[in-house]
Amino acid sequence: MMTTEEGYLILSEISAHEGKLASPAEGSIPSSSFPASLPDRMGPDVGIQLYRAFFLPLQEERYPNGSCDPMSGEIIFRTPITFGWDVFDELPEHIPQGNIMLILGRGSADRLKLKERIGSMMAGEMAVFSGVEPNPSSATVERGAREIRENDPDIIIAAGGGSVMDAAKFMSLIAVHGGTVMDYITGKRTPPDGGLPVYAIPTTPGTSSEITPFTVVTDDRIGNKVGLRHPSLFPRGAIIDPSLTVSLPPRQTAATGLDILSHAVESFWSRNATPLTREFSLRSVSLVREHLQGAYDDGASRPQREGISLASVLAGMAFSNTGTTICHSISYPITYDSGLPHGMAVALSLGPAFELLRKKGFEGLRPLAEAFGSNTRDFRKDLESFMRSIGSPTTLEEAGFTGGEKRIMDTDMTALLRNFPVSLDEGDLEWIIRAIS
Ligand SMILES: [Fe+2]
Repeated sequence: MMTTEEGYLILSEISAHEGKLASPAEGSIPSSSFPASLPDRMGPDVGIQLYRAFFLPLQEERYPNGSCDPMSGEIIFRTPITFGWDVFDELPEHIPQGNIMLILGRGSADRLKLKERIGSMMAGEMAVFSGVEPNPSSATVERGAREIRENDPDIIIAAGGGSVMDAAKFMSLIAVHGGTVMDYITGKRTPPDGGLPVYAIPTTPGTSSEITPFTVVTDDRIGNKVGLRHPSLFPRGAIIDPSLTVSLPPRQTAATGLDILSHAVESFWSRNATPLTREFSLRSVSLVREHLQGAYDDGASRPQREGISLASVLAGMAFSNTGTTICHSISYPITYDSGLPHGMAVALSLGPAFELLRKKGFEGLRPLAEAFGSNTRDFRKDLESFMRSIGSPTTLEEAGFTGGEKRIMDTDMTALLRNFPVSLDEGDLEWIIRAIS
């Protein structure tokens, strides 16, 4: 493991091995061995600290006699992270001074007085693009890009939920390199690496957009959500302060927590997972299991909010390397048609996808079930009762989705199907959709 001059953590470069990892054998990872304590406060080398805290103590136990090289496979974290309660108040220490374009959403911007607080801490000129909506549209992204070009800032600060950060990353790309959202989605334009630097301050955990190379926006012309993955979409820095999440209402707490869980679970079984990403996934799953109900019941609880924010970091580190799988594909038309929050829509099909993997004899599910405090036989049932306990639907009917099986089957799932660890035919996908109908 090494850090570059920019502070990026690049694991792939010191890997002695390339590619090829066996799935951990069933039963090889006892979930009870998670380290209990976390670093109190983590600086820009958070990746190294997490690696030391979560992986090293377990390495010999899980992979005795060097049976698996934890550093094999390509793993890249490119966003330096500052994590800690109240680190937002030290913003000038973590973001370079210069002229700023501040991108804000709706709810959290007013609730937390972000414009005023950021404006008072940063010295440069500050222009503001506010009002990014949940599931931001291509029109919003393209409008924001125009405003950025007009204001010609040195840096962009995206302060808000996943929608704000996703939109800001896409805006930055278009502001510098031109074109439209669909130009990039369809591959007509390939984003060159580099662009206007984006510094992300999440006010909701969940998408982990502050540390990932992904952006997802909604395009009304094609009637669905569309996503882009590119290295230039890694933010230049992430300032993650769990205290900013205390005012998140219970329903959003549940939805964003389920998004974290979905990222961790789908990353765990992704075809691209490595021992290290699996370790981050498992720890993220156990943190969600441990803290989401508490954060839902008592939003002001510091330990619960810290646990969920950390779960989001770990899931983000895992799935930014592995990608997600079909549960995300299935969720897009559900959210588009019914307005069900993203995390709740993805979580709907997690249990059936787990079940399908079990039926197909996929090995290695036991540690995942155990990290959730369950076992492979009861995982789906336990997940559903967990979802109900935080007010999340468990069927398409409860979610208010009336588009039918065909609407979901018509979604292009090619990319995320590739990440799924076993090949699925149309009948398998129909089975999953019927299981939640
Ligand atoms: Fe997601």
